[in-house]
Amino acid sequence: IHVDWDAVTAEKGGFDHFMLKEIHEQPQAYRDTMRGRIDESGKKVVLPELKLTPEQIKGISKIQIVACGTAYHAGLVGRHAIESLVRIPVETDVASEYRYRSPIVTKDTLVIVVSQSGETADTLAALREAQSHGAHVLAITNVVGSSIARDADDVIVTLAGPEIAVASTKAYTSQLIAFYLFALYLAEVRGTKTPEEVAHIIAAMQALPEQLESMLEKPDAIKAYAEQISKHEHLFFIGRGLDYAVVQEGSLKLKEISYIHSEAYAAGELKHGTLALIEEGIPVIALATQEDVLEKTVSNIKEVSARGADIMAITHEDHVASLLKSVNQAFAIPKTLPLLTPALSVVPLQLLSYYASLARGNDVDKPRNLAKSVTVE
Ligand code: G6P
Repeated sequence: IHVDWDAVTAEKGGFDHFMLKEIHEQPQAYRDTMRGRIDESGKKVVLPELKLTPEQIKGISKIQIVACGTAYHAGLVGRHAIESLVRIPVETDVASEYRYRSPIVTKDTLVIVVSQSGETADTLAALREAQSHGAHVLAITNVVGSSIARDADDVIVTLAGPEIAVASTKAYTSQLIAFYLFALYLAEVRGTKTPEEVAHIIAAMQALPEQLESMLEKPDAIKAYAEQISKHEHLFFIGRGLDYAVVQEGSLKLKEISYIHSEAYAAGELKHGTLALIEEGIPVIALATQEDVLEKTVSNIKEVSARGADIMAITHEDHVASLLKSVNQAFAIPKTLPLLTPALSVVPLQLLSYYASLARGNDVDKPRNLAKSVTVE
């Protein structure tokens, strides 16, 4: 008998591509990133690695999150988590812009840099810029010995394991987990959430890995939809609030590996110009998981539907039936707290990009013109 075998195939652990393997490793990455950071009672976040003292935490007046690409998109969710749980103002910047906008940084500013590789030149330069103004810099990174991990004042390591595919998946979602943990820790120290509220969020976080596992068992509907959109050259993503943050990542992922042009729009902003581009048959992917703005998102869905768009919605199980009145198809994701939903809702978008890239015959793990780690500014 002849068996095809090589080291690379073996490392893919039975998956056709690293990207698909890494998508499937996300439940484990969530568990590993949470491990040791939640106390034994399961009710409190502990971050023993932090040098930042409770006194310093109480003195923070502003937070700036700085990163590139997918890590920047994690920062958009991080901003929401910190602002909603801790009520500290947060700005999120792409690193290549941050340095040149003369950012207002004081000793009471905490700067959080996010980087899977820990080697991105723009992010490293932003870290140094922040430190030169006396800010404390916390790095969220996946690589312990990286330049960013070494130079930062504090580090929270995401335990996603090595990420090989250029398109980031498990590193992004692990960054979300790191942000949730850090935001909860700040809320404990500053007393902005009660111990019961914190415990409630932690319990929901601990359910995420299993919820994600159940989602990964059923890729067929997304795969079929991906084949459908793979024939298009342009499409739109819409969402509000956290859904908007997630569709920005979904749109980037799709562009990176399928080369289909897409734009992610805040659903309420469509009517200020973009509606002109909505014509008969154009695919629109609507992320509609955030209950406080659901009704508003539905009216935006109706705006594009009236212009003939072919709409696919991703929502919680509870809302599928009602959304199907306004959209062509709908996919359900398991229910979690609104704040934690990005850790689930991004996964169908990752799979969509993967299968669309595959349907177009692209090199999924090594998209043209892109590098895993960019060490030039
Ligand atoms: C490159 C990669 C992106 C990544 C970005 C930031 O452009 O292609 O996937 O999001 O760098 O990388 P980092 O390692 O800093 O998270």
